Amino acid sequence: MNDASGRPIRRAHVTGWGRYAPAQVLTNADLEKMVDTSDEWIRTRTGIRERRVAAANETTASMGAVAGLRAIHTAGIAPDDIDLILLATLTPDYWMPSTAALVKEAIGNTRATAFDVMAACSGFVYGFATAQAYIQAGLAKHVLVVGSELLTRFLDYTDRSTCILFGDGAGAVVLSASDERGGALGVEMTTEPQGAYMIWLPAGGSKSPPSAETIARGEHYVRMEGNQTYRFATKTMATTALESIRRSGLEPADIDLFIPHQANIRIIEAVAKGLDLPMDKMFINLDRYGNTSAASVPIALAEAVNEGRVEIGDNVTIVAFGAGFTSGAVTIEWTADPARGRSADDAVRPEDVRVRLPVDWDSVDPIPDALADLMGQPGPVDVPLDDVAPGEPEHAHPHAEVPA
Ligand code: ACO
Repeated sequence: MNDASGRPIRRAHVTGWGRYAPAQVLTNADLEKMVDTSDEWIRTRTGIRERRVAAANETTASMGAVAGLRAIHTAGIAPDDIDLILLATLTPDYWMPSTAALVKEAIGNTRATAFDVMAACSGFVYGFATAQAYIQAGLAKHVLVVGSELLTRFLDYTDRSTCILFGDGAGAVVLSASDERGGALGVEMTTEPQGAYMIWLPAGGSKSPPSAETIARGEHYVRMEGNQTYRFATKTMATTALESIRRSGLEPADIDLFIPHQANIRIIEAVAKGLDLPMDKMFINLDRYGNTSAASVPIALAEAVNEGRVEIGDNVTIVAFGAGFTSGAVTIEWTADPARGRSADDAVRPEDVRVRLPVDWDSVDPIPDALADLMGQPGPVDVPLDDVAPGEPEHAHPHAEVPA
């Protein structure tokens, strides 16, 4: 197919997918020991049974790099073939540099433009849509889109309404330019700022810089109005998905599999009802991971494909909602051999992937006190905890210099 000026239409096909989940499991029974909750309440109100917790030596960048390399392996390309890296997260390693820049170095890419996408749980879908726009505009051939989150370090483990919901992990896709039909079709994204303070992290930004006072008030933790968020999510997930499907020239019945943001089983059931679809068209893995925010859709997509739930020619809709309030959906005509992703976990092992550390700074044990028993104390950290006195940063080691 050609565009109005006779040039072939450039499409964005998913050619690679991968995911990474930290090994440590936090069960509902573990949470029963921390807050006044029960396995039964969590399962019936959310569908979640367990979630993962990143180890002390893991970060959003390290998990994102593993998932990213697995997606690149699946695509059958080299890391340096990637022209653009978009990393969606609400839990970056640092305010600066971007986590995408750390991932670029960790995966061994020397060429790509790299930046973060901040749209909370919708971040991966926003990144996917941005990647498609770059490809259609002829600005990139291969784009790596990563969703990576380390939420367990931003939760108040005395607040039972939030700490039970979230977990850690990362997922990624490679989108590649192609003149063939298929790939990403209709895109829909919305932002409704009247919901801006329904899910938020009050302190740490320029409005309320981090201080002893903000920490004493617990303003460095995720806060959420669960009921309001729930109402928004049920409505917007269905309308956003429907708009994306219609923009693709399709109807909900034409969709073979939905990959919804894995926040709450009841939200997903309401979306299925709203679109008049059976639940077996909804991919679910929130029982094992909880809500991993921007990582939830790419983890679910990679697992769905690897489990044989997607075939070449299938129509797949990814749809998410999150803080902002934001929402986004993309409908995709699947064109890649689903078997390609199955060797990625063995091919890319987390212990072989390294994010360069700031060796001129002292390190702290990042594991929240409430999770210390679960994780073993003190947790393994890459820089010795007592290497450098706080407030007296040394100059960088010679071997840490950035190559020219
Ligand atoms: N264990 C036991 N009881 C609890 C718990 C818990 N973990 N949490 C809340 N309760 C209690 C409440 O205190 C309340 O008690 P009360 O009636 O005595 O006051 C009761 O359970 C009912 O509370 P609700 O908040 O009305 O419970 P609801 O059925 O709405 O479920 C939930 C709460 C699961 C948070 C739900 O509202 C929800 O899933 N909302 C959407 C949240 C979401 O998806 N957020 C992610 C957004 S994505 C992003 O961008 C980060």
